[in-house]
Amino acid sequence: MKIPLDRQAKQPIYLQIRDRLQHLIHSGGLPSGAQLPSIRRLAETVKVNKLTVLEAYSMLEAEGLVQAKRGAGYFINPPELRSPTANSPPHSTFNPVQEVIIPSEGVSSFPEVYHAGLRSYNQPDYIEFSQGFSQPIGLEDLQRIARRAMKEAHTFFQHVHPQGDIELRVLITQLLIQQGLELSPEDLIVTNGSMQALSLLIDHFISPGDWVVVEAPTYHGFLSILQQRGARIIGIPMTPKGMNLTLLAQYLESHHPKFIYTSSTLHNPTGITTSVAHRRKLLSLAQAHDCLIVEDNAYEPLSFGTTPPPIKAFDDRDQVIYVGTFSKTLMPGLRVGYMTVTGKEKDALTERKLLHDFHISTASQAIVKEYLSSGHYRRRLGQIRAVHRDRRDYMIRLLLQNFPASITWTVPDGGTFLWIQLPNEISMREVCAAAAKQKVLIGSGAAFFPKNQGYPAMRLNFSLPPAEMERGIKILSKVLRSAIEKAETRP
Ligand SMILES: Cc1ncc(COP(=O)(O)O)c(C=O)c1O
Repeated sequence: MKIPLDRQAKQPIYLQIRDRLQHLIHSGGLPSGAQLPSIRRLAETVKVNKLTVLEAYSMLEAEGLVQAKRGAGYFINPPELRSPTANSPPHSTFNPVQEVIIPSEGVSSFPEVYHAGLRSYNQPDYIEFSQGFSQPIGLEDLQRIARRAMKEAHTFFQHVHPQGDIELRVLITQLLIQQGLELSPEDLIVTNGSMQALSLLIDHFISPGDWVVVEAPTYHGFLSILQQRGARIIGIPMTPKGMNLTLLAQYLESHHPKFIYTSSTLHNPTGITTSVAHRRKLLSLAQAHDCLIVEDNAYEPLSFGTTPPPIKAFDDRDQVIYVGTFSKTLMPGLRVGYMTVTGKEKDALTERKLLHDFHISTASQAIVKEYLSSGHYRRRLGQIRAVHRDRRDYMIRLLLQNFPASITWTVPDGGTFLWIQLPNEISMREVCAAAAKQKVLIGSGAAFFPKNQGYPAMRLNFSLPPAEMERGIKILSKVLRSAIEKAETRP
């Protein structure tokens, strides 16, 4: 099979391979049932690494165009098995009216939400829409991989560099280069989940009383760290296209914040991914005001299609710190995340990490290393993306069939949740309580706004098994209808 590659092009090689095969499949050049060349054969023919071919095949699998049959290879799916939304995701109706939020004190209820989440785990019969990660899958793989990783157990008797195991950093660097970053393994610190990266950054850059810009809504864990540090917060509204840049420009001018915290791809909680133009504009505003950007793209690897390069890829002044994690793609319990440290603060941040906890668990590092180097990580991403896309579409169908028409939502191109906007008069506290009474747990939107000051909203995890999801959405629809009726009859 001929796949012309342009090795000088900006588009990564795996995407070039994916695009070519996609074209062949859609044009009938590769008919239903035909077998793709084995990963090894194609890698040899086009002279690329096997992982590059695996990545391309996994994306085709996630798009429903091919199917992997264990031990036999990859086969082209008939058109009826291909995801109907592969090229045209359902339309988002999200469009909130919202003001800038500048809370005077106490900004976040994250610890409360976290503990409530812990209490709800494994409760029999509960339908858990509130969590921010995917369902446990691939446990058989984990056992095999953990066994292989334990071959390195003798190294657990020593410390490693505070930036993390060098082989692991090489593998993470390869992932980030494919996303468009220019980076070397020296430019990374592996952290105890991305939460630790965020904490170290705030401790390092922010003094009590400093201003920090966040998106509103935003990741509530980050709001809590800011609160603990005594930072002052400016919550700039999220529009369907990302943070409102006109308002950002005004507040950069008037408040001189120390940094802007943003999730450019699959933002938590809205799931919005910004365009290249938005990313460039945000960067140029930050540069004009000498303000750092912390780009936290925890959900980026769970994107269904291609994503624009992160803001970090356009950063020529070491002004952006990119933060990532394996919590959403592998397991949150492994606690492996990372941040880029390309600027002059690298040594100081590395020392801070050393004094904080030496380095992260070498056992966790060994497991993630094994996932990455064996190709299981890519395979797993392909599986999760395919399952999540089907379930996202299923949840949207359920919402269209069951939810009152006054309710709108985002349609994220990946990740694990939808962000649902409710009519203004609704009391979210009452909705959450009524749903919990019927054993349905939802993420109340309030937690994601500085000081809970946003429009009524909720975050719903769409990775649940379909039957459970259907039961939960039906219960939730009744709760919402009765909340709306109650609001309408209120004097
Ligand atoms: C946007 C974002 N950043 C960071 C984190 C922290 O994740 P972890 O510390 O498990 O990597 C989360 C967890 O939900 C998140 O959603």
